[in-house]
Amino acid sequence: MSIRTYKPRRGRVTPRQAAALDVGDGLLIELGRTAFSLKDEWPGLPVILEIGFGTGAATAMMAGRQPHLGLLAVDVHTPGIGDLLHRVRTIGLTNVRVMEADALEVLRTMIPQGSLAGIRTYFPDPWPKVRHHKRRLVTAEHASLIGSRTVTSGTWDLATDWAHYADQMIDVLNKHPMWEGGAVDRTSDRPVTRYEQTALDQGREVTDLRYFRTIR
Ligand SMILES: C[S@@+](CC[C@H](N)C(=O)[O-])C[C@H]1O[C@@H](n2cnc3c(N)ncnc32)[C@H](O)[C@@H]1O
Repeated sequence: MSIRTYKPRRGRVTPRQAAALDVGDGLLIELGRTAFSLKDEWPGLPVILEIGFGTGAATAMMAGRQPHLGLLAVDVHTPGIGDLLHRVRTIGLTNVRVMEADALEVLRTMIPQGSLAGIRTYFPDPWPKVRHHKRRLVTAEHASLIGSRTVTSGTWDLATDWAHYADQMIDVLNKHPMWEGGAVDRTSDRPVTRYEQTALDQGREVTDLRYFRTIR
């Protein structure tokens, strides 16, 4: 089994989150063994995959502002999945689907080649200790997997509050034949999450990156 990019956490599921997980209206997609059709799920919409949405506060806000995009939001943390489902239904968003799964497994098994219009990876777990760097999401191997599932000129938006990880992202992606891009100014499209606010309060600088899938 490959190294996990997350630490499995229990986390208490509140009654509201449990109820949101239990609705069965098709917004929560099960991890399957075969590719599923993005076109059937989001007819006519370009689809963005968000890896690791946390509580989903920013995800729901962005999806509300971007009805012209389909959003597949994947995380492994059950309480956050419940929160996002609750938000999506409360706001009445129709362009969001949610999965409780390792996004790398979703990419490998369910996402067809060259199908995603974009990827969002905001504040992936920093794994600050040197012996844990191998658990970081942005590696050459994962950049190849993500690149293989992305359309030509598709985007990969990243943000991190960890300077060493920002350097790693730039180093990996600048060397990678499937990606070109670099640091960009922070866009107001991305709302400040609690996670980001804590980083800013603690004096860490946030780096935003945007990469494009190169021509095949
Ligand atoms: C530091 S949090 C940031 C959450 C959110 N993007 C924000 O800005 O508040 C990182 C999130 O990534 C999730 N995560 C880590 N590895 C993942 C993976 N392979 N697939 C899906 N989610 C993952 C974690 O469960 C966690 O919720």
